[in-house]
Amino acid sequence: MKQYRVRTSQRLSGTARVASDKSIGHRALILAALAEGECVLDELTLSGDVRATQHALMAMGVVIREQDESTRVQGVGLRGLQLPNGHIDCGNSGTTMRLIAGLLCAQHFGTRLVGDASLSRRPMKRIVDPLRARGAHIMGTVRSESTELFPPLSVAPLVKGESLLGIEYEMPVASAQVKSALLLSGLYANGLTALREPTLSRDHTERMLAALGVPIERMASMVVLDPVEWRGGWDAFRWTMPGDLSAAAFLIAAAQLVPKSVVEVVNVGVNPTRTGMLDALRSMRAQVNVVPGDETVADEPTARIHIEQATIARGRVGGELTTRMIDDVPAYAALALSAPGKTEIRDAEELRVKESDRIASTILMLRAFGVTCGEFEDGLWLEGTDRLRAATVDCQGDHRIAMAAACIGLRADGETIVRNVECVQTSFPGFARVLRSLGADIVEEEVNV
Ligand code: S3P
Repeated sequence: MKQYRVRTSQRLSGTARVASDKSIGHRALILAALAEGECVLDELTLSGDVRATQHALMAMGVVIREQDESTRVQGVGLRGLQLPNGHIDCGNSGTTMRLIAGLLCAQHFGTRLVGDASLSRRPMKRIVDPLRARGAHIMGTVRSESTELFPPLSVAPLVKGESLLGIEYEMPVASAQVKSALLLSGLYANGLTALREPTLSRDHTERMLAALGVPIERMASMVVLDPVEWRGGWDAFRWTMPGDLSAAAFLIAAAQLVPKSVVEVVNVGVNPTRTGMLDALRSMRAQVNVVPGDETVADEPTARIHIEQATIARGRVGGELTTRMIDDVPAYAALALSAPGKTEIRDAEELRVKESDRIASTILMLRAFGVTCGEFEDGLWLEGTDRLRAATVDCQGDHRIAMAAACIGLRADGETIVRNVECVQTSFPGFARVLRSLGADIVEEEVNV
């Protein structure tokens, strides 16, 4: 088993880079696989989740090679995917399963999508229902008394002459994975894909499709893809992947937790649908400075983020702000410990169906450090404190809980152990090394259990 051994740290400082954006990585691989010709993705981090998408595409006949800092994808065109030999394993990655399911529904071959124990507990009805409504032959797995559908998913081929239908769909939850599954299937449909979300979720798919010339229109939380007059494909491309703001969130949290720290994270993606945590920090009077970069790939803005530890006020997060920082709640909860008073996070019920029940696992982790905190059905609250007791924490197999616990350990009063941290590979390989390079007292070690 791998664990982090973390000790009270003095002043973090320096400049760091983080793993490339996981959401953009999945999409870039999928869109490269469907391009006409060889695409190059520079600085793509093949984290566990992104590798799941890579393997899914390779299983469908796409040749993908890693060369120096680049990933080369031999695009097969929109209609060039092939029948895989057996099922496709999506590992721990919900994004892989939901996006690949959307793509598979439009093919003339069928297969099964399976996942690990955590992914097998995640809800799939949210994609199965609308995909079926547009004529896809997709089925989820029923478990005991629940009306929910879970993995494995079985997708049967469209029969000859059959195609997917247009769909107008009011999404019950803001979810970029559901939206993307419908947009990817919509590339093959014989009518419009018109979607409306309760609040706008991350819009990488829309931006990237638009950059590739796909007829797609966006207005607030509505998106319409109209493939009817479209030529049906795109040329090969070369994109450089930006860093992941949801990975940078942990460096920001660490810098805010350790007194006198001054840290800069460079080349971070700052798509406005992802920057909720930066806005939340500003309203707490944190010293965060976002300096726009000039690198923009597929309409995805980047920036250099500068953070200086400061005295901050307690936070209150809810509504669309929560959607824009949904993956960053564990990092945000960690740094909010440095604000005196009660911080509250609401409208985050989606966290219950992430890699773990992230409301419950954040609370469990915070309590291990002696934090006074509690749950709401849709969120959590916590009391800031400068008395954090060092702890032994199990991260429940959830990468974001492991990284948040490591950050808190830097401020706790002794030696903290974070167990089972293999899962951090999912999104941020090298996390402990990057944190150490800023002066944090953290080591990653293999222990026998
Ligand atoms: C993702 C969308 C979000 C997010 C996940 C990645 C994506 O999930 O939490 O980590 O890349 O589309 P939902 O679509 O379920 O909100």
